[in-house]
Amino acid sequence: MPYVEVPAPVLAMLRAAVGEGAVLVDVEERGHYGHDETESFSYPPAVVVRPQVTGEVAAIVRICREHAIPITPIGGRTGLSGGALSVNGGVGLALDRMDRILSIDDKNLQVTVEPGVITQVLQETVAAKGLYYPPDPSSRGSCTIGGNLAENAGGPRAVKYGVTRDFVLNLEVVLPNGETIWTGANTLKNATGYDLTRLIVGSEGTLGIITQAVLRLVPHPKETRLMLVPFPDAMRACEAVSATFRAGVVPSAMEFMERDAIVWTMRFTEGLPAQLSAEPAAYLLIEVDGDHGDLLMRECERIAEVMEAHGCGEMLFAESVTEKDALWKLRRSVPVSVKAHSVYKEEDTVVPRYELPRLLAGVKEIGKRYGFSSVCYGHAGDGNLHVNIIKGELSDAVWEGELPKAIREIFQLTVSLGGTLSGEHGIGLVQRPYMNIAFDRNQLELMRAIKHVFDPQGIMNPGKVLP
Ligand code: LAC
Ligand code: ZN
Repeated sequence: MPYVEVPAPVLAMLRAAVGEGAVLVDVEERGHYGHDETESFSYPPAVVVRPQVTGEVAAIVRICREHAIPITPIGGRTGLSGGALSVNGGVGLALDRMDRILSIDDKNLQVTVEPGVITQVLQETVAAKGLYYPPDPSSRGSCTIGGNLAENAGGPRAVKYGVTRDFVLNLEVVLPNGETIWTGANTLKNATGYDLTRLIVGSEGTLGIITQAVLRLVPHPKETRLMLVPFPDAMRACEAVSATFRAGVVPSAMEFMERDAIVWTMRFTEGLPAQLSAEPAAYLLIEVDGDHGDLLMRECERIAEVMEAHGCGEMLFAESVTEKDALWKLRRSVPVSVKAHSVYKEEDTVVPRYELPRLLAGVKEIGKRYGFSSVCYGHAGDGNLHVNIIKGELSDAVWEGELPKAIREIFQLTVSLGGTLSGEHGIGLVQRPYMNIAFDRNQLELMRAIKHVFDPQGIMNPGKVLP
C-alpha cells in the first residue's frame, strides 16, 4: 500500500465526527505522533485524530472504511517493534485522550479502563486500594494500557504473575467494519466459544481498536526483598536461572544484565549502593515478594545457595526503599542507555528458560562471525533475552547488508531451541520479515485468513505483523 493522503472532504467528515481541535494536520504534530521507540524511525500519519469516546472511534472507522483510508492506532509511542508507526499514512488514531479509569470493582478485584491510561497511573491508583496490577514494562511511566494490550507487553513481574494477556477478562473493540463488540465476559473463567479476548490481545491493532478493557487485579503483596548478584561468568548466571525454579522458588522478578548494560546505565542512576561495581561480567537482579518477611528471608537464602553453587560473587541486598528504587531505576534505564550509546537493533528473543545459556552463547558466536558486538539483558526468569546489537564502528554497508542475515541466524537459533521471535515487544514492522522462521505456510495462511475475516479491506494497521 502506498502512502495514503486524507482528502479535504474526508478531513471535514472527521472534524464533524470528533470536533475541530481533535484533528491535527500540522507537520510538527504529525511528526510527534509519527515515531515510537523503535530505532529512529519516523512515519507521520497524514492526519492525527484524537477521539474521546468509543462512539467517536466507531465514527472515524466508518469514515475511513468508506474511503479506504488506513488507520494506525497510536498509544504511548514507547513500542520497540514499530507497531504504532503510520507506515502507509492515512489516519493516526491517537488514543491518548481516552485515559480514564472508569471503575475499580474491589468486590471482584477488577478494573475497567480506557486504552490511554498510563500503566504506572493504573498501578498506583489500584495500589492505593491495596490492589496490584503486575504487568510492568520498563516504559510504565509513559506507555499506555492500550499499547500494552496491543503488543501483549510483559516486564519483570511476568515471571511470577504473567503477561498483560493473563490479566485481561474482557475487551470493548471497534471492529474494522465500524461495529462495536465486547469480546468475552467479566469472569475469571470462560469456556464459552472461541476466545476472542485472547485473540485481540497481541494482535497489534491489526484486527480492531480496543476502546475499553476489564482487567483482573490481585491483592498487593506487602513486602519485597531485592538482591543483586554478580557473576564473573555470564553463562553461569544464565545457568543459575532455571536452577532457582528447580530449587522450588518462584521469584517475582529475575532479570539478567550484561556488564555493558550496567556500565552504560550506572551514570544515569543516583542512589545506587556504593558496593555496585562494573567489574562482573553479568548480574542477576532478583526480587521475591509476599506478605511474610520470614518466608521471604527463607526464599532469599534458598536463592543464595543456588547462586553460590553457580559461582557468583558477593551478593548485594537492597537495604532500603531508596536502594530498591535505585536498582529498579538502573534496570529500567537499560534500554534508553543503550539507545543513547549507539545506533542499535533490539531483538526480543525468548526460549524455554533452561535453554537461556545456549541462546546467549549462540548470540555471541553469531556476533563474532559477523563482527558485531551485542549487549544482552532481560527477563531471564522467562527465558526472554533482549539482544541489543550495537552498530558501534560498523559501516553502513555492513549494518544494512549483513545484519539481516545475522538476525535471521539468531532467530533460527532461538526457534531451534524451542523458542520464538518475540516474548513481549511484538512483531510490528521490524520483525515481520522473520515470521517465516517461526511459522510455516499453514500457520501463516490461517493468520492471514483471520485477518481477512476481521478486516477484508486491510485498513487496520497495514504493513504490520504478517509478512
Ligand atoms: C525492557 C524492555 C526493553 O525489558 O522490554 O527494559
Ligand atoms: Zn523487556
